[in-house]
Amino acid sequence: MLNLTTTMKTFLKWIAFCTVGLVALVGIFLAWVYFSTQVRLGRFYLLPEAYVQIPVSPEKLEDGQRIFRFRGCEACHGEKLEGKVYLSDPVMGEVNATNLTNGLGGVAGRYEKDSDWVKAIRHGIRPEGTPLLFMPSTEFYYLSDDDLGAVIAYIQSQPPADNMLPPSSLSLTGRVLMTLVKELTFIPAEMIPHDAQRPAAPPAGITPEYGAYLTQSCKVCHGPGMSGGEIPAFPEEYPPAANLTTSPVRYLPYWEEEGFVKIMRTGVTRHGREINPAYMPWSSYKFMSDDELKAVWVYLLSLPPRASGNR
Ligand code: HEC
Ligand code: HEC
Repeated sequence: MLNLTTTMKTFLKWIAFCTVGLVALVGIFLAWVYFSTQVRLGRFYLLPEAYVQIPVSPEKLEDGQRIFRFRGCEACHGEKLEGKVYLSDPVMGEVNATNLTNGLGGVAGRYEKDSDWVKAIRHGIRPEGTPLLFMPSTEFYYLSDDDLGAVIAYIQSQPPADNMLPPSSLSLTGRVLMTLVKELTFIPAEMIPHDAQRPAAPPAGITPEYGAYLTQSCKVCHGPGMSGGEIPAFPEEYPPAANLTTSPVRYLPYWEEEGFVKIMRTGVTRHGREINPAYMPWSSYKFMSDDELKAVWVYLLSLPPRASGNR
């Protein structure tokens, strides 16, 4: 009997010891996650100032608005550029797409030089030098000087809109994900080759090259080879992205350019089904011009066939 109690005591001590050890380890891990993400979020990026021509003609401002819409800026930043909650989730934190105007809560006043806009949009870096969260600059890095200039001109031409949003922040679990899940691009600035020579954008036209230039964002979901399938690191309820190549198992869903243009403008497929714009953002792509959509179509036709899901 006495023996058993001693064994019990040793056992309990051992359990307590392990628990304390485990808690300490988890504590050390979380502290490390916090500080290492803090270093990444607070990193200062020093970039040379880069300028693009900012046009003033009404036609170019209209172009700027169209690009702002079909590249998805409007979907995230709002119709009046007033800013929107992008992510509010206890697991991740709260990230807000910034109010881009000069109104209450807007940042335009802090953007003293045109090069500040270039740095934020193309490089994902604030005027102060710290990186932006989730702002998809990895795509906008490729924007031509002309397109970027038109977008900046459009932003600068917009009237002030008052909308105060709290500064973006990540929760501790969000920081753990940021450390462990490499597929989730928390800090786009970390993935952009800031010092490399930027590739020249192809001239506008109904060409596969220009189509490729317009489809940077499609590849996030449809894969670099456009063969669709499960989208890595996306929520489970997302349907797989469609195969947009002429694969042996599934042909391009739209046999004709006209059908393709229709789905990009209305979300309605050949079989009369309406695609949810929350999954496939045609509500942004509908703003592409006829020629731009034709260029995308010609690009899709030029792709080598792939079986679905081969990214
Ligand atoms: C997927 C959503 C999304 C899209 C698309 C998007 N943005 Fe953003 N953008 C954000 C978020 C989120 C932030 C704020 C990040 C932060 O607070 O760290 C941001 C920040 C910015 C900033 C920096 C503002 C600041 O806080 O200093 C600028 C400028 C900007 N976006 C312009 C654009 C333009 C122009 C486009 C289109 C070419 C665009 N954004 C497309 C989500 C988006
Ligand atoms: C945010 C992810 C996402 C982006 C970005 C995206 N797509 Fe999609 N796309 C999807 C998903 C998911 C589906 C399947 C939706 C469904 O079946 O309900 C889809 C379906 C389609 C379809 C319809 C295929 C069919 O089933 O008939 C076409 C065409 C298409 N996408 C073209 C494009 C093009 C072109 C781009 C870029 C200009 C693009 N998508 C960008 C996610 C995306």
